[in-house]
Amino acid sequence: MNNLIPEREPERQYYFIDCCKKIIAEKKAEIGRDLTYCVTTFGCQMNARDSEKLSGILEEAGYIRSEEEMAYFVIYNTCTVRENANTKVYGRLGLLNSYKKKNANMRIAICGCMMQEPDEIELVRTKYRFIDLVFGTHNIFCFGELLYRMLTENKQIIEVLEGTDRIVEDLPIQRKFKFKSGVNIMFGCNNFCSYCIVPYVRGRERSRNPKDIIREIEKLVADGVIEVMLLGQNVNSYGKTLEPKVTFAQLLAEIDKIEGLKRIRFMTSHPKDLSDELIDVCAASSKISTHIHLPLQSGSSRILKKMNRVYDKEGYLDTVRRIREKIPDVSLTTDIIVGFPGETEEDFLETMDVVSRVNYDSAFTFIYSKRTGTPAASFEDQIPEEVVKDRFDRLLALVQETSRKAVSRFEGRIMPALVEELNAQEEGLVTGRLLNNTIVHFPGTAEDIGKEIPVKLTKCMGFYYYGEAQR
Ligand code: SAH
Ligand code: SF4
Ligand code: F3S
Repeated sequence: MNNLIPEREPERQYYFIDCCKKIIAEKKAEIGRDLTYCVTTFGCQMNARDSEKLSGILEEAGYIRSEEEMAYFVIYNTCTVRENANTKVYGRLGLLNSYKKKNANMRIAICGCMMQEPDEIELVRTKYRFIDLVFGTHNIFCFGELLYRMLTENKQIIEVLEGTDRIVEDLPIQRKFKFKSGVNIMFGCNNFCSYCIVPYVRGRERSRNPKDIIREIEKLVADGVIEVMLLGQNVNSYGKTLEPKVTFAQLLAEIDKIEGLKRIRFMTSHPKDLSDELIDVCAASSKISTHIHLPLQSGSSRILKKMNRVYDKEGYLDTVRRIREKIPDVSLTTDIIVGFPGETEEDFLETMDVVSRVNYDSAFTFIYSKRTGTPAASFEDQIPEEVVKDRFDRLLALVQETSRKAVSRFEGRIMPALVEELNAQEEGLVTGRLLNNTIVHFPGTAEDIGKEIPVKLTKCMGFYYYGEAQR
């Protein structure tokens, strides 16, 4: 029998998915109902995309999607970027265990960035015995095989790799939205910002071949997708390790040519290597989003150096100037960390200064979280909680004030919005996204979902708008 198992990928995974199909069909006949699954995602867009890969394999195997965590198979795809991400997961696992006690057929898996940390694996091994399957970010492509093992072996399975240089193409994917999709262009990160755990849990930077990316997007477009979000921890270093080398700007220019694709977004752009070539490609395209997420982290050159961000305050402001010169309407957003070790009041005021000068459309503000294993965790001068809290509140107030001003500059304009969903709070409204990423709510119906509709931006509400469709 073992001779029949293909060694090559993805054939090997398809073989195991087929084996799972039989087991699931038998189980379904035995209990007389569909076997449901629920993938709960924590963290960033990479994790969201990974969850779509897990869903694709589960649906191929015969599981039926459910939004409820009382499903027959529940997967937690975890994040570990800040301490509170971990706390959230363990809090909810307790509840899952109580469901499992009531349903002998229920299975639970946990995967993602948290599971790349040895201490967390040990905790699951010793204290969370009810979890059936544990795997990491590097062997997610083996999920078909791991699922088979979970369904056939009656014990806790833990399979986590320390790293990988592999990229397996052509596995099934189940998208959350019909009309838009994330597309990984690279995996991992080589930047080692001193506070950040991502390089340790996602491994070294690997870029996908441009041909594979274009082929995936063409297939998505044929399947109804009009907007893609190109994903990488630092898209600006895309292609540096490929042979022959390709720049992110060149990749974007190729994607721009794909017929039928209407919108192209990307995330995240590290300020240290945002090239003029990239700005030119963005400026020349009518499809590429006029939104750039440009994480600042700190406005103090001294702190930026300690963070290993490789740019300083002036360099950052110069990048903003270069972008605005060629894309005057651009919407800039950012990430900021408050309370990095050694941050003085003066350092913090430098951050406030950048926020006032750039006028971001929005900013994600985070309290520094100590991640074991990162260089910053052993820096002296960790900042007292009250000081951090006070700075955080002042920063948030400034961000709210400046963002409202920035976002309101479009008031009265008519811009196309891609309708994403019905507005959950207000009946009769739909929620759409402008090319610059701003959200607008306006009267509409389920029929509008997935369509681009011109909308007059009538009322700015801070981060978002109310509008009127110009049908
Ligand atoms: N690759 C992206 C960031 C991914 S993590 C980039 O470099 O821009 C998303 C955000 O989480 C970061 O931008 C940072 O602001 C925040 N973050 C990362 N590690 C953190 C930590 N230890 N404490 C607080 N915030 C952190
Ligand atoms: Fe983390 Fe820095 Fe890499 Fe972003 S670029 S993922 S902040 S190490
Ligand atoms: Fe979190 Fe992993 Fe993303 S740590 S932010 S889910 S890469």
